[in-house]
Amino acid sequence: MGKSDMALLSVQNVTMRFGGLVANDRVSFDVPEGALFAVIGPNGAGKTTLFNIISGFFPPSEGQVVFAGDTITGLPQHAVASRGLIRTYQLVQLFKDLTVRENVAVGCHRVTRGGIPAALFTPGWARKQEAEVERRSRELLDFVGLGAQADMAADKLPYGQQRLLEVARALAADPKLLLLDEPAAGLNTQETAALADVIQRVNARGVTVLLVEHDMSLVMKVAQRIAVIDFGKKIAEGTPAEIKAHPDVIAAYLGGTETADA
Ligand SMILES: Nc1ncnc2c1ncn2[C@@H]1O[C@H](COP(=O)(O)OP(=O)(O)OP(=O)(O)O)[C@@H](O)[C@H]1O
Ligand SMILES: [Mg+2]
Repeated sequence: MGKSDMALLSVQNVTMRFGGLVANDRVSFDVPEGALFAVIGPNGAGKTTLFNIISGFFPPSEGQVVFAGDTITGLPQHAVASRGLIRTYQLVQLFKDLTVRENVAVGCHRVTRGGIPAALFTPGWARKQEAEVERRSRELLDFVGLGAQADMAADKLPYGQQRLLEVARALAADPKLLLLDEPAAGLNTQETAALADVIQRVNARGVTVLLVEHDMSLVMKVAQRIAVIDFGKKIAEGTPAEIKAHPDVIAAYLGGTETADA
């Protein structure tokens, strides 16, 4: 099997229970190296829970997560991140008191034992690598189209640009796999188009992307392959064309299964 067909991420029978609630129910899918793969599903379907498990925020009740050939199930977040599996969050999480460029610089230090705050205060770290970090941060800001805003305070950026900044910061950690949790939430049409372009160019740089997203037009435009989850279960997987035509997917989005199964 060539490297290009290898699954970079393999989610195997992942189940997550919160008390009596089954948020993920034996979910399995493979994300091939180099792919732009999307997970979609209605509100509360279990998408963020799946991301939390994949990124090591908490271990699954059952099942395995395999990344680049290694089982990473239950490893803590910093250990997962240091292997090159980097995520962004559904709610924007920037350092508001830092500039746009400094936010990316923080990402340049791949999250290690002490996490990002420790990286900020490690003696000598900032000085030693300052020039290289600055060069790289500016390059990444240019890449996402925020070069002109580099010296602004991060919280002065319009919301759509904050989301792009999060992508730049995640890229600074040099991910093999980038997990994006609803990056287009709250964006207008123009901002969503800019984001779609950035996501496609990230993928073209060789970064495998796993995208959770509600914006169907964005998913259908950028994803090569899509898994659909509903009430914690994977109900379909296929190309955008296959997913669009899938009766269970149509039913899930129209609320058909909710009434049928209730
Ligand atoms: N830490 C937790 N403790 C208890 N229940 C949780 C926890 N996290 C998620 N849940 C529940 O698990 C289910 C799935 O939630 P999750 O956030 O994964 O959905 P989602 O698909 O990301 O939804 P959305 O599209 O609204 O972001 C929901 O019923 C949610 O209330
Ligand atoms: Mg979510």
